[in-house]
Amino acid sequence: MSLKATVKQLLPNSWILKRQRMKAAIQLRKDVRTDRRRFAKAYAAPACVSQTQMESLLIFFVRQIEKGFSFDEYQFGRGKGALHNIADLSARLKMVDTNWRDNPVYKDAVLALGEYLRRHLAAEHDVTFITSLFDAEMLDDIEHASKRDYPSIELSKTDKLDNADVPFRELIERRHAIRSYSEQPVTREELEEAITMSLHTPSVCNRQPARVRIFTDAKQISEALKIQGGFGGYDAPPALMLITADLQAFMGSNERNEGYVDGGLFSMSLLYALESCGLAACPLNTMFSQETDRKTRVLLHVPENEVFIMYISVGHFRETSRICRSQRFGLDRILMN
Ligand SMILES: Cc1cc2nc3c(=O)[nH]c(=O)nc-3n(C[C@H](O)[C@H](O)[C@H](O)COP(=O)(O)O)c2cc1C
Repeated sequence: MSLKATVKQLLPNSWILKRQRMKAAIQLRKDVRTDRRRFAKAYAAPACVSQTQMESLLIFFVRQIEKGFSFDEYQFGRGKGALHNIADLSARLKMVDTNWRDNPVYKDAVLALGEYLRRHLAAEHDVTFITSLFDAEMLDDIEHASKRDYPSIELSKTDKLDNADVPFRELIERRHAIRSYSEQPVTREELEEAITMSLHTPSVCNRQPARVRIFTDAKQISEALKIQGGFGGYDAPPALMLITADLQAFMGSNERNEGYVDGGLFSMSLLYALESCGLAACPLNTMFSQETDRKTRVLLHVPENEVFIMYISVGHFRETSRICRSQRFGLDRILMN
């Protein structure tokens, strides 16, 4: 036996573990510093200058306007802050994209604002708080859009009856984020069926770090979503699932983000499985601050060794529901070579 191996055998395991953890912590500190630098340089700060950053912010604010269209009762005047940001960002986008009229993000903004204007005009509201924000060119585009039908999607419960049998390509096209549900409760068995289907999801060397918690208690769901903050304006869903990843599955600093990859893959399988089982669902972010992270851990009894991936709200489809479509980029934006 080598000297090194002999020394190792004589040392107490607690000492070896402490040393290994210290080494990992040093590497982690270096790697996180690189992550931090990379993120701080690239992220879409409010005063950003790149086209992609501006488009990301625009999509975020346009989404706030569009979400209002899916509430059971439309709230007039909602989203004034978002309107200001859209006006500012659209003007800046025009300066960096010479082809701005064909820009899909600009076109989407115009469609949403057209619908926003149409609803306010139809209800005889004063619309100067909208029209005063935009330059003549954009206002013209918005007014034109307000006279056309807004491209929303009408979903019917009966369209989902054969979900278990449709080809995967069709299932992908059928799935949409649904935030309002019928009053029918969701059973644990229904959710377990979808989770069982998701167990086939691949993970790094099959370590399977994803974990799922099911909540059906209305009070607990409301409290969790209040902390989450991204479900305002909708009734609490009949069921809420929390997907996490267990960091105990990982072996070193280079694997520090793998839980998010494996957990994300699992969550996507789960969303398709729910659709296949005929259940309506919406992924909900768990992009917590330190405070909301702590509050959520206490409320839902999540230990420190798990990281949050996302919530998924679940319910049964209503007889019909109208949802706003989420336009996707074309291959030209995604395929890099
Ligand atoms: C990780 C993740 C987090 C999300 N968080 C929220 C959220 O907090 N609130 C919300 O209303 N929608 C949320 N969504 C839903 C997205 O807005 C929606 O999936 C997107 O607009 C695409 O629409 P689609 O799912 O209908 O195709 C989230 C989606 C994902 C994938």
